[in-house]
Amino acid sequence: MDAIWPELDVETAAGRLDRAVYSLRQLFEPGRSRLAASPLLLTEREVLVLADQSQVWIDADVFERLLNQARNTDDPGEKKRLLEEASTLYGGDFLPEERKIEFTIVRREFLQRNWIGLLLELADLRAVHNLNTAIDPLDRILAIDPTNEAAVQRLIKLLAQLERRGEALRVYKRLAAILQQEYHIAPLPETRALYDAVRLGVQERKRDTAVPAYRDSGAAAGQDDYKDAAPALLIGRTHQSPLVGRDQELSLLQGLLLATEHATKFKLPSQKKVPALPLDTRRSPQSVLLMGEVGIGKTRLAEEMAREARRRGWAVAWSRVYPQEVSIPYRLWAEVLRKAMNQVTWQRQEVSKRPLIYQPLTALLPELDSLLTQVALPSSQSPEQEQLRLWEAACELLMVISEGSPLLIVLDDVQWADRSSCELFAYLARRMYSLPMVIIGTCRENELGSSHPLRLLLTDLQREHAVETVQLQPLSDEQIGAIVSHVPYLTEPAVQYIQTRAAGNPFFAEELARTVGTSSTGGSSITPNHLSDIIPVLPDTIAAALNLRLSRLSSACQRLLSKAAVLGSSFEFHLISAMEANTPGSNEDTVLDLLEEAMQSGMLTEEGTGTRITYQFWHPLLVTHLYENISAARRASFHRRAAEILRQEYQGREEEGAATITHHFVTGGASSQQIAHYAELAGNRAYTLSAYPDAERYYHLAVEHLERSARPSADANMDEQAHVASLLEFLGECTRLQGKYEEARHIYEQALEMCEQQRSLPSPAVAQQEAQMQAMLWCEVGFTWYDVGNNVQALQCYQHGERVLQDAHITE
Ligand SMILES: Nc1ncnc2c1ncn2[C@@H]1O[C@H](COP(=O)(O)OP(=O)(O)OP(=O)(O)O)[C@@H](O)[C@H]1O
Ligand SMILES: [Mg+2]
Repeated sequence: MDAIWPELDVETAAGRLDRAVYSLRQLFEPGRSRLAASPLLLTEREVLVLADQSQVWIDADVFERLLNQARNTDDPGEKKRLLEEASTLYGGDFLPEERKIEFTIVRREFLQRNWIGLLLELADLRAVHNLNTAIDPLDRILAIDPTNEAAVQRLIKLLAQLERRGEALRVYKRLAAILQQEYHIAPLPETRALYDAVRLGVQERKRDTAVPAYRDSGAAAGQDDYKDAAPALLIGRTHQSPLVGRDQELSLLQGLLLATEHATKFKLPSQKKVPALPLDTRRSPQSVLLMGEVGIGKTRLAEEMAREARRRGWAVAWSRVYPQEVSIPYRLWAEVLRKAMNQVTWQRQEVSKRPLIYQPLTALLPELDSLLTQVALPSSQSPEQEQLRLWEAACELLMVISEGSPLLIVLDDVQWADRSSCELFAYLARRMYSLPMVIIGTCRENELGSSHPLRLLLTDLQREHAVETVQLQPLSDEQIGAIVSHVPYLTEPAVQYIQTRAAGNPFFAEELARTVGTSSTGGSSITPNHLSDIIPVLPDTIAAALNLRLSRLSSACQRLLSKAAVLGSSFEFHLISAMEANTPGSNEDTVLDLLEEAMQSGMLTEEGTGTRITYQFWHPLLVTHLYENISAARRASFHRRAAEILRQEYQGREEEGAATITHHFVTGGASSQQIAHYAELAGNRAYTLSAYPDAERYYHLAVEHLERSARPSADANMDEQAHVASLLEFLGECTRLQGKYEEARHIYEQALEMCEQQRSLPSPAVAQQEAQMQAMLWCEVGFTWYDVGNNVQALQCYQHGERVLQDAHITE
């Protein structure tokens, strides 16, 4: 009692203990009538005993036992096996909800140190056989502790050995940046030496030199300064000016975090059931949408909240949407789920235990496949049920992950999200009540047209108290003044000018201030008149400010940023390196320097740890601006190049990248053959994910381009027509599933027409196949009549189909 309730007197503590014991017994054996006789929790004089150890299995104990066995064996194969097994048992902080009790703190830290040591050792053992597989354990360490130098050193060596030199250098630079920003210190001399060796091209030959393998549970290399909470700075853009105003909004969001913590704190996983009724007016929403105009500070507010959440021990899964990704089904959620899975240490075996639940998610996250055992799948269900199974699986996965630590999900620029992602958002917003999870979305309200899927969902969600919206108003002139006050040499008139022009918009204010503050005319001499010479009126004012800022970058850096803008608002190092590969004189080092220049100038910012680092443009407006300023011809060639690079990247799993590749091929004006091929793959993927509107769009595109690229030779035409007919059939189905029955009927009829044209085929086997296809199409046409209540027409179609089968001697 002293350990758990040191502040209580004996009597009160004893009362609490009695109640706790009673609840535990109820939980252990809900069916038992005489709980005091429970054999699972025994009272022996003054001591409470969890009885009969053969019936009790505690993951933390087994984890430690496996680790000890691993330490005591000299057989590397056995050691690896034991460590692999132990690594699956560590599902996150030990008793995460008990932050204050001494003995849980001590054990939590001990287990975590051991887990990090285990991952380091596992990385070493895996590297002996396969360097690639050694990366994941290191990425997992860096996700929770980005300054772990032992992991960084190993990663640098591994990447260098794998000839991913640029990434090795990036890993070091990211470490150096975080250490500098967070602690004002430099990396260790050994880490620096490794970096220098890689930079100068000194080949790493001997594997196990500089970095000692982890040996002792209490002294994991580089772990002496292990911190409980991950550094807050890893969230959002770096080098920001201090936040000004927004007190009310902040306190509302903070209240939401607190309320969620409170509501979910003392619940055991088994009690965290989602409510059966979607409409529950007593609850307060755990999803908030920050609405407002371009640049008003929505993302910034979400960043502030994410940092606050991080400080409180929450995990944060941040996802951005870009306008060019509107038609990639569930892209938003694939990113959220991946980030959550990678950042949080969670019970992976939960997924293995329930393959039927999680199987639908493998279409979206193929990496889950390795966790699932093969099971017989239920016979195919209706499209609505398929979709529901996918949503349920996503919800379950988030539940399991959030048991490790509460989870804040940020959906940035949700106005560009695809329809399926919006629907899943609505589903989750309705189901997450009482789960340790909060969703914050940012949304440019004026881009939500009246038919936007989110607009349609939002009214219902608000009525059901599932989502709250917060309108961000323009800042006051004083607040704008405070934002630009950190820019040196701004004169009073210049500040007034900015206040007038920015009209309460912090993005505009910052852009104007950057231009003015570093103007070559000398900040102190700037007056409103000088400014007007440089920058005319809004919104051209902002465009001019951006141009001026860009013009101060080296021309190589400007070119790199243009290419990056074609890739979207976010990109990875290897992609931009590949884009640059055919630029004369360019190599990984020059690309790194250019990225550094872009980051220094505030055009780019970076995110992530280990091998999972991505670059983002500081603001979506920068991308739009850069993109619009590329000449049409160059833009097209950049897009085609991006498509080619992605084709290489997705080799062997083409469907996964097909939507993005299609986007680049279409915008780049590639050949119809190429477009048709990838559009079909993108359609198939959307179809698998039950994202029928997207599948419809891609199949349309595929048919259109297949017809355009049809070859003149008669034989080839037959094959192509059969191909188009089968695509039309899919297209018809996707159209019909959305309730567009008449349109679907026309599509099926078109497919039938194509089949008719192939009547004269010589081989009987092929003729029979054709007949089956036609019969099926007649059946589909029948369904479209049935759907609108015309049973007579429907029957005629079914009968027609049967006749086709009889004529081909398939049925009697
Ligand atoms: N209250 C504030 N105090 C200080 N700086 C701010 C504030 N609000 C926004 N900013 C800064 O203004 C810039 C634009 O803000 P932000 O990117 O959050 O806009 P946004 O509303 O998300 O725009 P968009 O709709 O284009 O995504 C950022 O650099 C941000 O740091
Ligand atoms: Mg934003």
